[in-house]
Amino acid sequence: MSKQTLLVLVVTGALFLASVVGYVGQSESSDPPVRVFLDNTGGRVVFGHLAHVEDYGLECEDCHHDGEAFERPMECGACHPKAFDEAFAQNHQQAFSDPEQCLRCHYDDPATEAPEDRPDPYWIAVRADAFHSQCMGCHESMGGPAGDESCNQCHAGM
Ligand code: HEC
Ligand code: HEC
Ligand code: HEC
Ligand code: HEC
Ligand code: HEC
Repeated sequence: MSKQTLLVLVVTGALFLASVVGYVGQSESSDPPVRVFLDNTGGRVVFGHLAHVEDYGLECEDCHHDGEAFERPMECGACHPKAFDEAFAQNHQQAFSDPEQCLRCHYDDPATEAPEDRPDPYWIAVRADAFHSQCMGCHESMGGPAGDESCNQCHAGM
């Protein structure tokens, strides 16, 4: 094997390794998704996530609370369910990977918190309200679909 062939092999190998590491690494980082598909009773919403970041110059924290505190942004529905019902009370405790996240709603360690000190869901928006309020609230001041006539600019088939 000539020195040149060896060099080519080494470089190719290194590039391959770098691409594998890059690929694996990417799936673990909080790279913003290009699009988010939100199916709901009002008709599917295709949210141009990357366009909002790159074209409209927004920061992660403009939409994700506590941007830095959590390793990667969570789905809004983990904290803004369709309804704060019995199922939520039972199931939400498993939805969070880090006990710190409990304190987004609970004032104290939920395990020792007295029942009367538990969070009042009255202060936490349910899913559709959280989205409508955040999406349209910003559009009202920065441009983008908002108001009674805007439904079909976000919802397909409305
Ligand atoms: C205009 C609002 C907005 C901005 C700005 C924004 N995001 Fe998002 N992001 C969302 C919404 C809405 C979702 C969908 C959440 C859901 O499905 O409940 C989302 C989803 C995500 C997800 C996928 C979460 C999952 O559960 O799979 C990641 C990762 C993410 N965003 C990272 C980022 C990062 C990093 C930035 C900054 C560079 C950013 N986002 C900026 C609104 C935004
Ligand atoms: C870890 C829990 C958690 C996650 C995840 C979360 N939220 Fe929230 N959010 C809350 C809590 C608790 C409140 C109410 C108290 C406050 O404002 O701090 C709130 C308040 C809000 C409000 C203000 C409500 C109003 O009355 O107008 C909006 C809008 C909102 N969230 C949208 C979102 C969106 C959109 C996402 C996903 C991109 C998201 N939230 C993800 C916990 C969360
Ligand atoms: C999005 C806000 C939110 C987050 C985040 C959250 N909780 Fe809760 N939690 C609530 C609400 C609202 C209730 C119901 C309060 C009530 O009506 O008594 C509740 C109730 C509970 C209860 C009582 C359940 C029952 O059967 O009555 C426990 C235990 C609990 N949470 C533990 C946790 C733990 C552990 C975490 C973190 C891993 C967590 N919570 C994160 C909002 C939240
Ligand atoms: C913090 C501000 C902000 C938030 C939050 C936000 N947007 Fe936007 N949005 C913008 C801006 C700025 C534009 C561009 C307006 C223009 O060009 O006039 C835009 C434009 C749009 C457009 C039209 C152009 C396009 O890219 O298709 C749609 C649809 C849209 N947003 C959907 C959403 C949805 C769905 C959400 C909630 C999940 C959301 N936006 C949340 C700022 C925001
Ligand atoms: C800026 C984008 C945007 C606009 C404008 C908008 N919506 Fe939505 N809408 C959303 C998003 C995002 C959701 C939440 C999707 C999800 O639950 O995953 C939603 C949810 C809904 C839901 C489902 C509620 C539920 O509880 O299942 C209905 C119904 C709805 N919208 C009706 C409307 C109507 C009527 C209008 C016009 C007056 C409108 N929307 C305007 C983005 C928008």
